[in-house]
Amino acid sequence: MSLARATVPLAGAPFLPPGPPFAARDLDAWDGIEFDLPPGDLRLRALYRGGREPVDVLANLVGYAEGWAEYPDYIDTLAPDSPVHEKKMLERALTLHHWGALRGLPTDAAGRRTVLDIGCGVGRFATWFLDRGDDVCLIDGDLRSLRHAVWHGAGRKGRLDAYWTTAEALPAVAEGFEAGFDVAVLAEILNYVERPTEVLAAVASRLKPDGYVLFSLEARYGWALSTDVIPGLGDGFFSGVAFRGGDRHVVCYDEAGVRTLFEGWDVEFVPSHWVLSGPFELLVGADVAHGAGKDEGRSALPQLLDWEQRFAADPVSAPLHRAWVGVARPKRR
Ligand SMILES: C[S@@+](CC[C@H](N)C(=O)[O-])C[C@H]1O[C@@H](n2cnc3c(N)ncnc32)[C@H](O)[C@@H]1O
Repeated sequence: MSLARATVPLAGAPFLPPGPPFAARDLDAWDGIEFDLPPGDLRLRALYRGGREPVDVLANLVGYAEGWAEYPDYIDTLAPDSPVHEKKMLERALTLHHWGALRGLPTDAAGRRTVLDIGCGVGRFATWFLDRGDDVCLIDGDLRSLRHAVWHGAGRKGRLDAYWTTAEALPAVAEGFEAGFDVAVLAEILNYVERPTEVLAAVASRLKPDGYVLFSLEARYGWALSTDVIPGLGDGFFSGVAFRGGDRHVVCYDEAGVRTLFEGWDVEFVPSHWVLSGPFELLVGADVAHGAGKDEGRSALPQLLDWEQRFAADPVSAPLHRAWVGVARPKRR
């Protein structure tokens, strides 16, 4: 449900400007407020309270609930003092670089866009679009992450609204976004949903006629070998599916899998992430990300791209990239 339905026990919800969507610059009073929302997927309330996953795939949301309790600074990657802030900002710059090269990033001259960010997390990509003045509809199955996305969005240029729901239960119509979306961001989310093809069909029906999807996906082999993967999920290397109850369920994609997933779409994608969060991070050293938090990764990106190209060119490392990054447009009849 929209931020318009947010409640704050005892204190009451802060002032909301006209909307939805709501001018982010007028949402400063929401920063740090632990608001509640009616969940769009009724399974989420129990998960939020620490319950176990009703189906294997939703184990990720149990993992996030525990993560916020045990290592919040590793999840709130947008906080400047997060130990992984610089790395995550450089990773963002790398992903944006690929989306731009695939002609997926609208120019600022295109005016205000409507953006659907599914599995927005703490708002890594949403904040980028908000800074450009876009209208962003935030969706996440983890209320704690969604709150942080609103907090990080507050004070920026664009407008936002927020829905606590799963990708499997998108709002039928998001108020203020009835005309559809110019862009849907699906960054590191399709690996974690129950029926990704149905999610993509639901997204397609919410796009404007010339709307499109920006995506990143966990890649087979590279994901299983990465530095931030929890130990003991070796089966995932062989099967492409890594599962641990109460923690994680990840379906990793090879190239053919990405093409099958996007059947019915015009899709272009590239392999990415050999270094950051990838299997070769230790080899290169995480200091490749130094300073990326301060300038959105601009100064560190060229050196990272050099490394990426070297690993892409080597026949041994080439298939071991961590991610796929791409742009997809529904084929129109
Ligand atoms: C790896 S994070 C990616 C966050 C963000 N897109 C980014 O790239 O920084 C995955 C996010 O998806 C959310 N998520 C996991 N399963 C979900 C589901 N079934 N429906 C909606 N969100 C989900 C998690 O809560 C988490 O915030």
